[in-house]
Amino acid sequence: MKKNVRNAIIAGNWKMNKTPSETTELINAMKPLVKDADCKVVLCVPFVDLDAALKASAGSNIEIGAQNCHFEKSGAFTGEVSPVMLKEMGIKYVIIGHSERRQYFGETDETVNKRLKNALEEGLKVILCVGETLTQREQGITAELVATQTKIALLGVSKEDAKNVIIAYEPVWAIGTGKTATSDQAEEVCAIIRKVIADIYDDNTAEGMTIQYGGSMNAKNADELLGKVNVDGGLIGGASLKAEDFSVIVKAASK
Ligand code: 13P
Repeated sequence: MKKNVRNAIIAGNWKMNKTPSETTELINAMKPLVKDADCKVVLCVPFVDLDAALKASAGSNIEIGAQNCHFEKSGAFTGEVSPVMLKEMGIKYVIIGHSERRQYFGETDETVNKRLKNALEEGLKVILCVGETLTQREQGITAELVATQTKIALLGVSKEDAKNVIIAYEPVWAIGTGKTATSDQAEEVCAIIRKVIADIYDDNTAEGMTIQYGGSMNAKNADELLGKVNVDGGLIGGASLKAEDFSVIVKAASK
């Protein structure tokens, strides 16, 4: 990896998997396997597992994140969780704009922007997800689409606050399908995103930003994907539910 250039972050997105007791068990299994990581290690778990995750990871190099947060601090928003609540618990990271939220829960670029700004205001680090569907890739609009998602998500975000944003490029067609983008495809789009960041802010901000790849990253393909200059880590779904596989990815990012 290019640790001298940027901070590599390997983040697990457990999605809607694991109960609190299973969370404790899995983190206890992961701790010894990732303890020598030379990259940041983050686990984004369901809301109800956050407490167990914080307790199980205490004193280790594993940091804990949530998978979403609301755009208001409090109020009549049944079923939602605000970043103020996450912060008080000791949560450091939150995923915003995952394609599953966009696809199944009506998330739009505008609500992504509102949630992201609210999370940053509370001092959380945001993993912002962008990525095209298969149809959009076939239509040849990947670059424009990803640029638009990135630009709208970051509307009104200062250069200073952008330092707390990590971008995860997750092609929708590669999520949970076993179809990984080739390392060249991942590199190409991560480079496009970095250029967008340079256009919005400046070269320094772009060079300092961690841009991850996500979509069927696993123990076998991590080395090659993470070897690319603009791929600074991974957002891992399925493989983050297996301690051994996840630790192999963490090791690949630590080279
Ligand atoms: P998979 O690694 O299971 O494809 O999921 C990727 C993802 O959506 C991470 O946020």
